[in-house]
Amino acid sequence: MSHDHTRRQFLKTSSVAGVGALGALGGVTSASRAQPRAKALDAPGSAVSISSGNGLVAVRRAVERINAGADPVLGVVEGVGIVEADPNDMTVGYGGLPNERGVVQLDASVMHGPTHKAGSVACIENIMHPAAVALKVLQTTDHVMIVGRGAYEFARAHGFPHEELLTERARKAWLRWKQNQSERDDWLDPDQMDWNQDGTEVGAAGEQQPVPFTYGTIHCGAVDTSGSVSACTTTSGLSYKIPGRVGDSPIIGAGMYVDNDIGSAGATGRGEAVIQSCGSFAIVQAMGLGLSPTDACLRVLKSIVSNSKRQKRLMQDAERPGFNVILYALRKDGAYGSAAMFPGARFAVADGSGARLEDCASLFD
Ligand code: GLY
Repeated sequence: MSHDHTRRQFLKTSSVAGVGALGALGGVTSASRAQPRAKALDAPGSAVSISSGNGLVAVRRAVERINAGADPVLGVVEGVGIVEADPNDMTVGYGGLPNERGVVQLDASVMHGPTHKAGSVACIENIMHPAAVALKVLQTTDHVMIVGRGAYEFARAHGFPHEELLTERARKAWLRWKQNQSERDDWLDPDQMDWNQDGTEVGAAGEQQPVPFTYGTIHCGAVDTSGSVSACTTTSGLSYKIPGRVGDSPIIGAGMYVDNDIGSAGATGRGEAVIQSCGSFAIVQAMGLGLSPTDACLRVLKSIVSNSKRQKRLMQDAERPGFNVILYALRKDGAYGSAAMFPGARFAVADGSGARLEDCASLFD
């Protein structure tokens, strides 16, 4: 079953965006890979950008910037930067949920289709915009991935400010998680306390709030009117993770991948499952073999489920996994699609018709 979204007012062949913005990329050159296999861009219109459901502002910004002449890689990084700076999104950047020690550790990756260059950072602390740091890795080094303290020092060398990323809301969520871990440790659960933390009597209304939990992330891919594709993925990762845990987002081919001859893909949700199936690489390969963006996402979800059946603890029953993964695909000609394990997920897209949320296809009912 295909839920593909056909091209809308897409893409007049034009060199304006690709050429103009490459100067701003510093270390990225304009060397192109092989000739596109995808259909030529043939209708007047706009760049197209796709993202996870938390990226409506990101796709809107990305398309605005790209249509104004920016390279897609700059559009997607600037777009996700809005979400990285938003304290209310607890899955990304500032305000993201911390690791088990209460420290926010961020992962991000960026890929630039025309040069096939990638940049990535993992476990970076105290830097609000890891996607922009990943872009600096791509632009200014001969490396692909820099992690931990080295990533922080690299970011500082490039002038990124040191910032405390743990908001009060995220700190309180982490504290509730820590107190609820076990009735046998020394961190008392709220119902074990003689007094509530605010000094009111035990049982007073408002003491117990749910502990938020997320694998949430933002992925954003874009293609301009000349067929240049770029993408990035940025995240605070699995909430309350073991310090140093790296998810799929900064792994090229897992949380994000671009082949400028074919398109881009990205993932959100349980990163371990995406890594173990090379999720984004597999989506792009499937599109290269002729599957539509949505069908490519569904095929990779099926393979994730099939691989997960080998670890029974990951399954809620014989067929259905106990976790969600949402996949996003953007083809070079502007066709796009997204699929999740379960119904109810939405993704964001922007093109010449504006920015909007659409329903993801789903593997299970
Ligand atoms: N997909 C984000 C993560 O697992 O870290």
